[in-house]
Amino acid sequence: MVIVKIGGVVATDPSLLAALLSDFAALARKDLVLVHGGGKEVTAVSETFGYQAEFRDGIRLTSPAEMDVVDMVLGGKINISLVRRARAAGLDAVGLGGQDGGLFVGQARVFDGRGESRTGQVTSANPRLLELLTSAGYFPIVHSTSMSPSGVGLNINADEAAQELAMASRAEALVYISDIAGVLQEGRVLPRLDQSSMEAQIASGVIGGGMVPKVRSARQAVAAGVGKVVIGGFKASGDLQRLLSGASGTTII
Ligand SMILES: Nc1ncnc2c1ncn2[C@@H]1O[C@H](COP(=O)(O)OP(=O)(O)OP(=O)(O)O)[C@@H](O)[C@H]1O
Ligand SMILES: [Mg+2]
Repeated sequence: MVIVKIGGVVATDPSLLAALLSDFAALARKDLVLVHGGGKEVTAVSETFGYQAEFRDGIRLTSPAEMDVVDMVLGGKINISLVRRARAAGLDAVGLGGQDGGLFVGQARVFDGRGESRTGQVTSANPRLLELLTSAGYFPIVHSTSMSPSGVGLNINADEAAQELAMASRAEALVYISDIAGVLQEGRVLPRLDQSSMEAQIASGVIGGGMVPKVRSARQAVAAGVGKVVIGGFKASGDLQRLLSGASGTTII
């Protein structure tokens, strides 16, 4: 399986998305899965409801009230529109979230000084539904809401959701597509990043914000035997193939 997680503008920009979807179609493989976040869109809609976004270590804090917005934006607006665009691009797309078929489920993360939390962390992942769908020729598009075992909704960082699915399916490749060309150091993309320099650069602040959960998810996936993990950007058609071949982006080792 090849799991590609998209975030930032590529998840919502129509022309970038069209180029990415045509790259998926050109791969002509029956084992492709798309996972998406939508942080900026969730933040924008949350603000119209009067909620202020807060993050810890690049992870969004989600209150029970904000969870409704996350469901509406991630599982509603963004997922539905991605499925429509993928179908228009000739892919047999199906939209799903973590709760569907128990793809990934979790428990609430607790943050100091905060009330009840709907920010989740994955406790188990089961790729069976993805295998069933892809083997029948469908293209699953997965958003990162899920639930606790008792049925409480959880907002899971999409990088973590993609990582857990990649590990559970022993994926051939996991690709994180974001707004930047890779993991940057002094403005340059690092072609390779290993665990010790990763933690050193998080500690020194070179790696910050949403890049922190991304590199940590990537590293855990490598350690768990995922074939290849790449973090990079998408600017034009052909970039997906370039990321998969290691010609661009940062490969996590
Ligand atoms: N050293 C670094 N190299 C690259 N990006 C970095 C670095 N340090 C911090 N960042 C920030 O991390 C961001 C990527 O994480 P972010 O969570 O914003 O995007 P995403 O995960 O693609 O989107 P979403 O969270 O919506 O799914 C970059 O856009 C950049 O602002
Ligand atoms: Mg992110």
